[in-house]
Amino acid sequence: MPWLGHAMAFRKNMFEFLRHMQAKHGDIFTVQLGGQYFTFVMDPLSFGPILKDAQRKLDFVEYAQKLVLKVFGYRSVQGDYRMIHSASTKHLMGEGLEELNKVMLDTLSLVMLGPTGPSLDTHHWREDGLFHFCYNILFKAGYLSLFGYTKDKEQDLLQAEELFLEFRKYDRLFPRFVYSLLGPREWLEVGRLQRLFHKELSVEHNLEKYGVSNWITYMLQFLREQGVSPAMQDKFNFMMLWASQGNTGPTSFWALLFLLKHPEAMRAVREEATRLLGEVRLEAKQSFKFGALHRMPVLDSVMEETLRLRASPTLLRVVNDDQILQMASGQEYLLRNGDILALFPYLSVHMDPDIHPEPTAFKYDRFLTASGSRKVDFYKAGKKIRHYTMPWGSGVSICPGRFLALNEMKLFILLMVMNFDLELVDPDTPVPPVDPQRWGFGTTQPSHEIHQEYTFRHRRSCRTTAESRQEDLNTGKEYIEPCKTEPEPEESTVL
Ligand code: HEM
Repeated sequence: MPWLGHAMAFRKNMFEFLRHMQAKHGDIFTVQLGGQYFTFVMDPLSFGPILKDAQRKLDFVEYAQKLVLKVFGYRSVQGDYRMIHSASTKHLMGEGLEELNKVMLDTLSLVMLGPTGPSLDTHHWREDGLFHFCYNILFKAGYLSLFGYTKDKEQDLLQAEELFLEFRKYDRLFPRFVYSLLGPREWLEVGRLQRLFHKELSVEHNLEKYGVSNWITYMLQFLREQGVSPAMQDKFNFMMLWASQGNTGPTSFWALLFLLKHPEAMRAVREEATRLLGEVRLEAKQSFKFGALHRMPVLDSVMEETLRLRASPTLLRVVNDDQILQMASGQEYLLRNGDILALFPYLSVHMDPDIHPEPTAFKYDRFLTASGSRKVDFYKAGKKIRHYTMPWGSGVSICPGRFLALNEMKLFILLMVMNFDLELVDPDTPVPPVDPQRWGFGTTQPSHEIHQEYTFRHRRSCRTTAESRQEDLNTGKEYIEPCKTEPEPEESTVL
């Protein structure tokens, strides 16, 4: 179609469209999508020069600035992109991250148990949609940990719950909003939601809060110093809420669902956790061996496999100046000034059977070596490949929150599998397919909800081993032999 090009087929199902194009045209092709030409590179052995971009002729910022102005109303200022990355290096990695881990664990406990801790009611079986359950908990815990509390925890939880419901409305509209496919009523709704988020996350509200993370504080200070207006800072906050909360909930959902569908994986995760941590109790101010989080190759492998199967980012760079791209095959191609260079690693890497045999299958130990450590050696066409998964993007635009995200999701999964009995309402229900609208937008979402039943089982930890075993045998529940806990090399952290 003139101007539109392949936009309709692309927007309907990006994955299928690109698969079709790759089969037809090979590892590099250019398509027109709504007036803009996109060159897709599908050979991961050729990614190196693109991601390194030694000549600085591929621009990530230009495209990102236009997008964030459209979807968050945020007008970028000089240096803010570099500032986000330096704020993240300082506060979402290293010592800053250790501090945030503790806050995150306390907040997860608060969200999962409520301000008064476990009650009798907590021990009843409850039913919920698994996607809603995971997204809701991760959102509230992430939001409160990063954007701060007031003195009234109960009120904070209520406000976070309301914000989550609005966030989901925006989230549902998001892919079609980016593609400018909304109807008139939906446009109005998007406007309302944007205004609501700008207000709820306003810097004025921030002043009433304590415990605002150093990450947010640092970034807002930079904007203030650059003379950015308070109204624009509110929009910046909305953008950060989106970046920090849009993927952790859906990823945790897929991870928990895969564990529920693969009992051998669930057993392996529980065994590793019991060996390293002893009990992981869900309570405020608990002692938790945070150092052990970095020594859990089984859980790491589960997370990496989940992200391989369900994270589908698109990496985009504006081509500045005509230039030659040399592919790994030696073949050279001309990239045209003004076109966009695009990578879609979900198809070209995650689903490549040469790199990951049986690519659509969940194998919890895919990222484990025979000796049980992290596996990092993967090959394509006999050559060792550096980018064997790319859920966080790569190069200049790599996700700066990836370490926090992983810790947060691992803490949630640990708290869930060690403190709750979980079952799918229909154990035979298959893993739902991905909603095709969400290809290319970070972690995908399911096409429909899956129902689970769960009950808190903290009281079990007070029982003797014999009581536990007997009770578990009586109820037919799985019993895990308590293992000797490995000694903790670092000081264990008591919150
Ligand atoms: C499972 C969870 C997450 C996934 C899969 C994920 C993935 C990504 C990806 C693929 C990008 C790069 C997009 C691009 O190339 O344009 C990105 C950017 C970003 N992420 Fe994450 N992310 C996650 C969680 C988080 C968290 C928890 C935070 C912060 C606390 C965060 C903060 C950001 C920010 C600020 C950016 C924009 C960086 C920039 O402007 O260069 N992310 N994320």
